[in-house]
Amino acid sequence: MWGGRFAEGPSAIMREINASIPFDKALWRQDIRASKAHVAMLGAQGIVSAEDVTAITGGLDAVAAEYEANGVPENWDLEDIHMVTEDRLTQLIGAPAGRLHTARSRNDQVATDFKLWVRDALDQTDAGLAALQRALVTRADEHAGSIMPGFTHLQTAQPVTLGHHLMAYYEMFRRDRSRLLDARARMNECPLGSAALAGTGFPIDRQATCDALDFDRPTDNSLDAVSDRDFALDYLQAASQIALHLSRLAEELVLWASQPFGFVRLPDTLSTGSSIMPQKKNPDAAELVRGHAGRVTGCLMSLMMTMKGLPLAYSKDMQDDKPPVFEAHGLLALSIAASEGMIAGATFRTDRMRGAAEQGYATATDLADWLVREGDIPFREAHHITGAAVKLAESRGIALDGLTIDELKAIDSRIDERVYKALSVDSSVAARASHGGTAPTQVRLRVADARRALGMPETGIGED
Ligand code: ARG
Repeated sequence: MWGGRFAEGPSAIMREINASIPFDKALWRQDIRASKAHVAMLGAQGIVSAEDVTAITGGLDAVAAEYEANGVPENWDLEDIHMVTEDRLTQLIGAPAGRLHTARSRNDQVATDFKLWVRDALDQTDAGLAALQRALVTRADEHAGSIMPGFTHLQTAQPVTLGHHLMAYYEMFRRDRSRLLDARARMNECPLGSAALAGTGFPIDRQATCDALDFDRPTDNSLDAVSDRDFALDYLQAASQIALHLSRLAEELVLWASQPFGFVRLPDTLSTGSSIMPQKKNPDAAELVRGHAGRVTGCLMSLMMTMKGLPLAYSKDMQDDKPPVFEAHGLLALSIAASEGMIAGATFRTDRMRGAAEQGYATATDLADWLVREGDIPFREAHHITGAAVKLAESRGIALDGLTIDELKAIDSRIDERVYKALSVDSSVAARASHGGTAPTQVRLRVADARRALGMPETGIGED
C-alpha cells in the first residue's frame, strides 16, 4: 500500500509488530458503516461519480456479508481492518475501490471507527447497569423491612435494613450511569474528515458524515481529532469506577456467603464446587468479579501510559489503544451480568441477619439516644452510661435487653422500663426515618423513586 517509496518490503518482525488485524478486526462493522457514510458524502459533493459510489457501496455490503458469514480474514501483510477491507473491496469491484480513500486517512478513519465502537460499548454497559439496578431494587423492595447488622470497621454498629443496604449499591450504579452519560455526550463529535492530521483540500461536507454516523457535531481541530483518545480513557475511567463498585458488592457477597456470616445462599448456577471437599460451595463468580476489577483498572493504566508522552498528532503507539478497551469491556460486561444474576438469585437468610443484629449490641446507640431524649442527659454522658451497660451485658454474655431493670437502674437511676422498647432492633431501625435513613418507611420511598426512574411498574408501597 506504500510500496512506491520502498526498495525492500518489511521483515517478518516488522509485519508482526505492525499488525493490528488480530484485534482490530472487532471494528469491522464500524469501519464499513463509516466508509459508507464517507463515500455517500464524496458522491453528494461531486468528488466521486455516482456510478463509483454505487459500486463501492454495493462492494462494502458484500464485504460485510462475507465477514458476517465467515469472520474477518487475518492477513498480517495488510496490517489492519481498514486495509483488509479495502483490499477485499478491490478484489470484488476493481478500480473504483481506489476512490474510497479520497479525502480520508487511516488516522481519521480509525479515530471514527474506534469512537463508534466505544459509543456502542458504553450504551451496552449502561443497559447492563440498568438491569442490575432493577435487580437490586426488586430485592430491596422485598426486604425493605428485613433487619441486618450495619457495620463500620466491619464491627456491628447499628441495625439497618437489608433493603437499605441493597439500595446503597443502587446509588453507586446511578452515579456510574451518569458518568457514562457525561462521557457519551463529550465523545459524540465526529473526527471523520480530519484526514491525516491537517484536514483536506477536497470540498468535503463534514456535517453530512457527522449526521450519517449519529454524532452531535464535527470535531473542531483536526490535529486533536486524530490524536484524541480521551473518549476511550473516559470509558475506561467509568469502567474502572463501575468495576470498583461491583468489586465491593462482590466482596460483601463472598463474606455473606461464608459460614460464620451465613447471610446469603448464592444461586447454584453462579457457584462452583470443590474437587476434593464435597461440602464446599464456592462463590467463584463473586470472587472473579472482585478479581476482574483489578484487570479493568489495569486496562485504564495501560492506555494512560500509552498516551502520556505522545506529541501531536498520530503516532503508531496509538494502535495499542484498542486491546485494553476491548478487554475491559468484555470483563465488565461479564461482571455486570454475573452480579445481576447473583443479586436476582440470592436467597437472603434474614433469620441469620436478624440474629446477628440482635447479638452485637447494635442498639447501644438507641439506649444512649433514649437517655438524651427521656432523661435530658447530654449525649457524651449518655454514651458513657451506655458503655457501662454494654460492658456488664458483655461480661455476662447476654444482650442489652437481657439486663434486668434493677441492673440498668444501678448503672443510672434515670433509666426506667420504657427503655426496653428502644432496645429492640425493630424500633431502632423504625426510628431512623430521617431522609435517606434506614427506616423501612424511608427505604420504601427510595425504592418507589428508583422504580419510577427505571421505568418499573409501581408496587403501591412507598407512597407514605
Ligand atoms: N491500525 C492503525 C491504528 O490502529 C490505523 C492507523 C494507521 N495510521 C498510520 N498513520 N499508520 O492506529
